[in-house]
Amino acid sequence: MQLEKRAEIIKDWIYTAANHLKENMASQMTVEEKSNRKDLVTNLDKETEMFFREQIEHHFPGEGILGEEHMGETITSLDGPVWIIDPIDGTANFVLQHNHFAIMIAYFEDGVGQIGFVYDVMADTMLEAIKDNGVKINGQSYTLPFRDKPISDGLIAINSSLLLDNTYHMQEMVQEAMGLRLYGSAGLELISVVKGETLGYTSPHLQPWDIAAGSVAINELGLCLTQMSGEPIDFMNPNPVFVGYPSVYKRFRKQYETYKTMN
Ligand code: IPD
Ligand code: CA
Ligand code: CA
Ligand code: CA
Repeated sequence: MQLEKRAEIIKDWIYTAANHLKENMASQMTVEEKSNRKDLVTNLDKETEMFFREQIEHHFPGEGILGEEHMGETITSLDGPVWIIDPIDGTANFVLQHNHFAIMIAYFEDGVGQIGFVYDVMADTMLEAIKDNGVKINGQSYTLPFRDKPISDGLIAINSSLLLDNTYHMQEMVQEAMGLRLYGSAGLELISVVKGETLGYTSPHLQPWDIAAGSVAINELGLCLTQMSGEPIDFMNPNPVFVGYPSVYKRFRKQYETYKTMN
């Protein structure tokens, strides 16, 4: 099936799932802790992942699935067609704010992102990317507002643990920038970079499902995204990540190379 046709199907699933979340988040939410009191999962995270798995198994039987909540079989390699799902990105925001969370689905073939959707549910912002076919926001073709800007001319996003520990002296980056913004959802951080609202984002530990969908848009727009070391993202394992416009990405990399042996 053509990627465009697949993308239309995925978009319908996402709107259906988003309506389910909006209808149920006020009254039907049960919250559990996973690894610690800040690592939450709700029945709605699990229901949303199950819904996507059922759709994939029905429409595209035999294709691999990697989902954050592990609601079924998982892949052991990225060979062939693979779906990477974060049913609710920003679960803490979902629980505590009922706002600022995203549904994210990526479709990969042999380890290469082909389709990525990041949907900011409450803002109703649908970021859609198809490899070699550009990026759309809410159905409209999207191009970057500018090709590049220095860190001194914009806002940046740095994961709070990097800032609190001042890993790689990351606080220096905040001083150089116009300011810091943190959204609590990797997907919303990537939408913000895509829109040029922030110039870059870094996190020490993003899972494949945190970046798979957004990575398709980032690549398609010619923005920079790698592990902190400069290595390509590993979509089977957690990654320390730099993403951004070229100058800010280079500035992050320089900071990392300067201080990596001193942490
Ligand atoms: C989390 C969010 C958060 C990021 C964490 C992720 P989740 O995803 O994207 O912004 O800092 O690393 O785990 O668990 O809410 O889907
Ligand atoms: Ca989670
Ligand atoms: Ca996530
Ligand atoms: Ca999640």
